[in-house]
Amino acid sequence: IRIFVPIDAAALSVGAEGVAQAIAREAQARGVAVEIVRNGTRGMLWLEPLVEVETPAGRIAYGPVAAKDVPALFDAGLTSGGSHALRLGLTDELDWMKRQQRLTFARIGVTDPLSLADYRDHDGLAGLKAALGMTGAAIAEAVKASGLRGRGGAGFPTGIKWKTVHDAQAEQKYIVCNADEGDSGTFADRMLMEGDPFMLIEGMAIAAIAVGATRGYIYLRSEYPHAHRTLQRAILKAQNAGLLGDSVLGSGHAFHLEVRLGAGAYICGEETSLLESLEGKRAIVRAKPPLPALQGLFGKPTVVNNVLSFAAVPWILQHGAQAYADFGLGRSRGTLPVQLGGNVKRGGLIELAFGISLREIIEDLGGGTLSGRPIRAVQVGGPLGAYLTAAQLDVPMDYEALASMRAMLGHGGIVVFDDSVDMARQARFAFEFCAKESCGKCTPCRIGATRGVEVMDRIIAGVERPKNIAVLRDLSKLMTDASLCAMGGLTPVPVLSALNHFSEDFDRPVPPSK
Ligand code: NAI
Ligand code: SF4
Repeated sequence: IRIFVPIDAAALSVGAEGVAQAIAREAQARGVAVEIVRNGTRGMLWLEPLVEVETPAGRIAYGPVAAKDVPALFDAGLTSGGSHALRLGLTDELDWMKRQQRLTFARIGVTDPLSLADYRDHDGLAGLKAALGMTGAAIAEAVKASGLRGRGGAGFPTGIKWKTVHDAQAEQKYIVCNADEGDSGTFADRMLMEGDPFMLIEGMAIAAIAVGATRGYIYLRSEYPHAHRTLQRAILKAQNAGLLGDSVLGSGHAFHLEVRLGAGAYICGEETSLLESLEGKRAIVRAKPPLPALQGLFGKPTVVNNVLSFAAVPWILQHGAQAYADFGLGRSRGTLPVQLGGNVKRGGLIELAFGISLREIIEDLGGGTLSGRPIRAVQVGGPLGAYLTAAQLDVPMDYEALASMRAMLGHGGIVVFDDSVDMARQARFAFEFCAKESCGKCTPCRIGATRGVEVMDRIIAGVERPKNIAVLRDLSKLMTDASLCAMGGLTPVPVLSALNHFSEDFDRPVPPSK
């Protein structure tokens, strides 16, 4: 009997390790033979630790399970999917799972992340095998035709980036995976690396073959120790199985892959400072151009893509560009792994075709706020994303639709706030975050963010509000127009959305000082 207990960091943080141990102990004490598989998470984070039992009818889910529940679960016939208050039913039939279109996340939570046999049995390596029968230009063309756009946040067409690197002439090219996932409220990269690391390896190997690169690096956020361990083990297994090395699957294409730990600042996720950091230097942003596609790591042509972008590629090559492009809306093709968090009843990962409204995601899938109070604001796209009002939630999840509202989809993070939020404080937080995380290279961001905190402090304290709000707008314009990278350039987005949509919070009565 196979019992699945996630080893994902989110599940571990709520006691999955203790649950796995309790199941092993209980099974042994009762003389029941069980195989405990440590899978990734299904993404229903409010149900973690989510235990699944394999039955002839399919996998039955129980959750959230605590170690102390285990004896009673065995009494209730856990090993045959017996009924118990924590029994949720067939995992695949749960509303959260049924409503998704899981292409990239299809295996996550289903397989053993570190079993290559399991990976192969679940369609793994089919994309790479298809790629090995194609020219590099044809692979880049297929990725372009799929409509895949950079899932790190900027949404640049991945196939065009690959074509640029493919066409560049150089004796050495690199593949770099940006796994520095720094956006607040995002965890899709981590979940993927912990739950299906071979898929990332496969996607990067396909990129290497497409552009003619022989060396790759995964630049991993240092705050992700579980992902680090999983990736290292997976890379070793991939090397031993001939999936990485001097001849990828015997094709004659060399591809060597290593993990490098990030230097611990948000700006390390900006692609040029990431490359600096990877070269062993301080993570200071480089001016663009030159683009990393032409002069990237060590000055060589480099593909820099987010985890989710690489991971989408094996599916595309296995099923064809058109099959991927058939999902989505307008210029946003395929699926988006949405990460729902903040003040929400049901938070977690939802992979859906572009086009679903924010309201459906938050209210139907998320069940509204956890506090039960009305939704007041929703921040989409990380700490540099706009705050939307409850009245704006019918916007479809689509790069262009959000951009037309001066908002952005970013890396797909959604953070929900109820009516207790103070939006002037959130605006202050945006500046404070930028002041802390700025690389300091350009003046508008380095100085502007600190001035922004001071201006917000004066507004909150009720000092010359009209004048300071004018300064706030002026400063925001300057940062938007003159910052060197998105960090300083986008910090005014949350600030101005807070000011424009929630102006009453910038005019609150000041509490009398004690
Ligand atoms: P960008 O628009 O400058 O570039 C996007 C990508 O396309 C880059 O890789 C760039 O090198 C490439 N590119 C542009 N023109 C090209 C061409 N002609 N040929 C080949 N490649 C080309 O955006 P940037 O500054 O790289 O990223 C900003 C975005 O990052 C923000 O919108 C935000 O959503 C996102 N972000 C994501 C975070 C996360 O944790 N995932 C954290 C912070 C920001
Ligand atoms: Fe550095 Fe900020 Fe300028 Fe970006 S905008 S280069 S983070 S100082």
